[in-house]
Amino acid sequence: MIKIFKLKNIISIKDFERSDIDYILDEASKLEDIAKSKELSDELKGKILGLMFFEPSTRTRMSFETAMKRLDGECIGFENSGSSSVSKGESIADTAKMFEGYSDALVIRHELEGVSKFISDIVDVPVINAGDGAGQHPTQTLLDLYTIKKEIGSIDNLKIALIGDLKFGRTVHSLANALGLYDNVELYFVSPNELKMPQEILHDLDQMKMSYTEVSKIDEIIDKVNILYVTRIQKERFGDINDYIQIKGAYIINEKMLKGKDLIVMHPLPRIDEIDSDVDNTKYNKYFAQAENAVPVRMAILKTLIKNNPK
Ligand code: CP
Repeated sequence: MIKIFKLKNIISIKDFERSDIDYILDEASKLEDIAKSKELSDELKGKILGLMFFEPSTRTRMSFETAMKRLDGECIGFENSGSSSVSKGESIADTAKMFEGYSDALVIRHELEGVSKFISDIVDVPVINAGDGAGQHPTQTLLDLYTIKKEIGSIDNLKIALIGDLKFGRTVHSLANALGLYDNVELYFVSPNELKMPQEILHDLDQMKMSYTEVSKIDEIIDKVNILYVTRIQKERFGDINDYIQIKGAYIINEKMLKGKDLIVMHPLPRIDEIDSDVDNTKYNKYFAQAENAVPVRMAILKTLIKNNPK
């Protein structure tokens, strides 16, 4: 098989070139009918995906599982460290080596940054980072970009507001890095002062000559942008719960604010209170479609990595 997609592991979106992203988005588009069960596929028949989820997940874990099953593969794994022998004191390294023996690829979610990279250095099967602490969530970014392309037609020439917890939100870190690969994209970072985009990401964007503006109010940008990409405040990453209580509810999008605007609303989910449910039944809501797009995108990722890197 000719290798067009060069990456063996998906650890950080910073490892991608634009052509790598385009490849996955094109593959995902071809797999839409299978994702929706209008066609059958046996592309990954006999293959097993190892799901190592040390931190809670609904969408990422279930969409990887659905993606694998739609391609006729199977999944093994755990959904929290309490149901694995990590709870008896087994190391992550030993756990990963066991999964390597049982699986054709591994999907890892962990509360600490760098765990997926660490595992990719000690196993031979492809490793996919499904979210590492406040670090990166590269496969979420791929499905975000897929959604933008599907809904708006292009990722170039857009004005996009990233709103909420830009400090701890790994989805906005990966997405900002990825958007730096596209032409004439302008970013607006909307957050409380305490939750601003980390300097490291701003430095990356400066290196890529990316245009961005930091603001603290949605009013300042709502008439300028094509996309409001909303995120929740990441309660679990605050050292002091009082700091969270002071900030929670800082930004809430509702139908009234959106009336007459030419934009879409996205959110990686889960949401807490940052998008009012009155937006759900409007044309602005693209967050449920975004979650559904996880299946063809993760099918494309699994098919590509497992077929390019047979055991
Ligand atoms: N978007 C996302 O990562 O959702 P989960 O935490 O439910 O996987």
